[in-house]
Amino acid sequence: MSLLKVTNLTKRFGKFTALDGVNFEVENGEVLGFIGPNGAGKSTTIRVMLGIIKATSGEVKIFDKDAWKDAVEIHKRIAYVPGDVNLWPNLTGGEVIDLFGKLNGQTNKGKRDELIKKFDLDPSKKCRTYSKGNRQKVALVAAFSTDADLYILDEPTSGLDPLMEKVFQECVMDVKRQGKSVLLSSHILSEVEKLCDRVSIIRQGKIIESGSLNELRHLTRTQMLVDTKQPVTGLQDMEGIHELEQTDQGLSFQVDSDKMDVVIKHISQFGIVKLESAPPTLEDLFMRHYEGTNKTGVGDER
Ligand SMILES: Nc1ncnc2c1ncn2[C@@H]1O[C@H](COP(=O)(O)OP(=O)(O)OP(=O)(O)O)[C@@H](O)[C@H]1O
Ligand SMILES: [Mg+2]
Repeated sequence: MSLLKVTNLTKRFGKFTALDGVNFEVENGEVLGFIGPNGAGKSTTIRVMLGIIKATSGEVKIFDKDAWKDAVEIHKRIAYVPGDVNLWPNLTGGEVIDLFGKLNGQTNKGKRDELIKKFDLDPSKKCRTYSKGNRQKVALVAAFSTDADLYILDEPTSGLDPLMEKVFQECVMDVKRQGKSVLLSSHILSEVEKLCDRVSIIRQGKIIESGSLNELRHLTRTQMLVDTKQPVTGLQDMEGIHELEQTDQGLSFQVDSDKMDVVIKHISQFGIVKLESAPPTLEDLFMRHYEGTNKTGVGDER
């Protein structure tokens, strides 16, 4: 059963369409990576999920309830970490954590103290004196000490150092082990690769790819460099070949992973002298989806 289901979600701000028919879901017990370039619509989608803003059309269902109408009920079972944490400046970190807990109604005090230690947080300091990373830690401790069924994390590690990034990853793996679900919006691809069962990629308000990391690997390309006895012909007409160019070291190109076999067979007719390949990475795939999107930027007022 899907715990969270986004159906044809559209959100307009005046004339600007931030979300244009977004569809995806988070299944029970899975960690979904929600990725896409700046301004793609991730935070807007999350704001609709939390009932902070109202959809123009379409719907978001969480625990089979309506994200807008049943927000109060839904909130009892979710934990949320924003990317840019603004805390009450005059409360201490510890007070904020407890306040979050009271709102949610089920803080686990043992867990809270363990997380404060793990994240190396001084809870007695006033929030206005915290650095960005430390404010982020307060929100993370608050979220992971509640016993939620769905954790909605919007770029939760943007200010964390590598050591704390690791602690964060352990937290996500912990809740996953307990069968909880996580929506993780992130630009840190290694984090996504490590934690997520599936990813949905959003770009300019539309989901352009959804699938398991394994499925997406099929969409990856391998970088090849070949040198042959006779010049290779016909390669530019083959399916799945990209960025073909003749270099001093040989013929350089990228090939879609599922076209590798035919391409190698074709090249082998020309007498392979040298063949080098760089393994396909999800990063390359993500980068391709990220590229060429900085055209809009209109109405950016965050
Ligand atoms: N209140 C608003 N009024 C007008 N435009 C808005 C508003 N909120 C968001 N937008 C626009 O909607 C688009 C999507 O923004 P959103 O914050 O969802 O992007 P994002 O994917 O979270 O990006 P980032 O990776 O930078 O956090 C952007 O173009 C943004 O300027
Ligand atoms: Mg955002």
